[in-house]
Amino acid sequence: MTTSFDPISQAEPEAHPQLWPAGFRRGSKCGVLKVDGVRVTDIAAQYGSPAFIVDEADFRARARGFREAFGSAFGELGAKVDVYYASKAFLSVAIARWVTEEGLRLDVSTGGELAVALRAGVPGENLGVHGNNKSVSELERAIDAGAGRIVIDSMEEIDRITAIARVRGVTVPVMVRVTAGIAASTHEFIATAHEDQKFGLSISSGAALAALETIIGRPELQLLGLHSHIGSQIFDLAGFELAARRVLDLHATVLSRWGIAMPELDLGGGFGVSYVPGDDPLPVAELASGLAEVVAKECADLGVDMPRISIEPGRAIAGPSTFTIYEVGTVKPVETDEGLVRTYVSVDGGMSDNIRPALYGAEYSVALASRRSAADLIPVRVVGKHCETGDIVVHDAYLPADIAPGDLLAVPVTGAYGRAMASNYNYVPRPPVLSVRDGEVRVLIRRETEEDLLALDQG
Ligand code: LLP
Repeated sequence: MTTSFDPISQAEPEAHPQLWPAGFRRGSKCGVLKVDGVRVTDIAAQYGSPAFIVDEADFRARARGFREAFGSAFGELGAKVDVYYASKAFLSVAIARWVTEEGLRLDVSTGGELAVALRAGVPGENLGVHGNNKSVSELERAIDAGAGRIVIDSMEEIDRITAIARVRGVTVPVMVRVTAGIAASTHEFIATAHEDQKFGLSISSGAALAALETIIGRPELQLLGLHSHIGSQIFDLAGFELAARRVLDLHATVLSRWGIAMPELDLGGGFGVSYVPGDDPLPVAELASGLAEVVAKECADLGVDMPRISIEPGRAIAGPSTFTIYEVGTVKPVETDEGLVRTYVSVDGGMSDNIRPALYGAEYSVALASRRSAADLIPVRVVGKHCETGDIVVHDAYLPADIAPGDLLAVPVTGAYGRAMASNYNYVPRPPVLSVRDGEVRVLIRRETEEDLLALDQG
């Protein structure tokens, strides 16, 4: 009866370990999912649901993993690498401290992200400042913080930074975000290197070269190099390879035209993760050695020295280290147009804590978290509590047929762009972010309350 459904199989941690943080297990006696020895039922009892739960050791290991893999792959070829954690994926004061402790730097793209980084005590020189429309005040704050680099995204910004630098009598280190003119194989909304979109200055139209010429003429600006970010949730090397080629070509042009060997090159982030069984991103070590090879070969062909490289992973660090727990509220079998039965399982969150399914058609998987069940698996759709049909948490999945109100579900890989893009749609307070380490739970961001929301309303 259920054969024409094509659900993603239930994401049991045992069957699909790549979807879950390293410290995640199903308790062999109790059948409850645990992180680092702590049962999710105990977390929900104390902190409520829904909640984002971060495995701190897993998050740190992923951050360290990027630094080590890229450090050794490029190191073998004689180049240094800096890893900037792309804080837009998820940021809190603790997260900024973790990545700093693991030897990473931080990419911020708004005044708000900058404020969190500064609150966490991240040294200014570790900050890379992004944004296609940074305000003058954001630029001033970044410059006053001694940001290690501001990534210029427009001609206007060159003048704004120059003016601020003149008033303060400082020299500002800058990079230029360029558009390499390639179509990365990912969702249109998160691809950033084709020509017809808002980011960067185009290489092929000459806009990037014009910006570079202007910057070179400004003693207030110290030109560090070029920056290219081709998009997000990318699984293969082809796009990076093409981008690196075009960007290094421009790098070599700057050398031949003005005699300037820019010391750095930023290849951006966008490294994909598995959201559902079957997603198959490149392991970090392969990514690192592949990119190192491409950059080395291109530099050799162009006869230029390898610049110091930087990368900016966000999702690949924050995403898989975190999962969301929800409590089931209602269970409703619904007949489909094909005469099949799909069971709608409604949970206590939804598109306000994870907009990605609605925005990008993103797929997730789900596991029964609060107990083990021997019941047959049935096709379900996990939906939220918002007043919208598109409020879907997991589009197609299997759960045990005895799924019932009060059960807890866990949805893995929600650490990136989940809480970071959360909203208060329908005046739903945003969930907390809790971390677990060595059997202890810590609140990184507390649950929002209705009082928090009403505090903004001036009556
Ligand atoms: N560097 C720059 C300049 C970026 O714009 C981004 C992401 C990153 C690095 C990090 O990309 P990641 O490694 O996390 O893929 N909200 C979308 C993703 C938007 C990405 C924006 N920029 C999503 O949920 O898929």
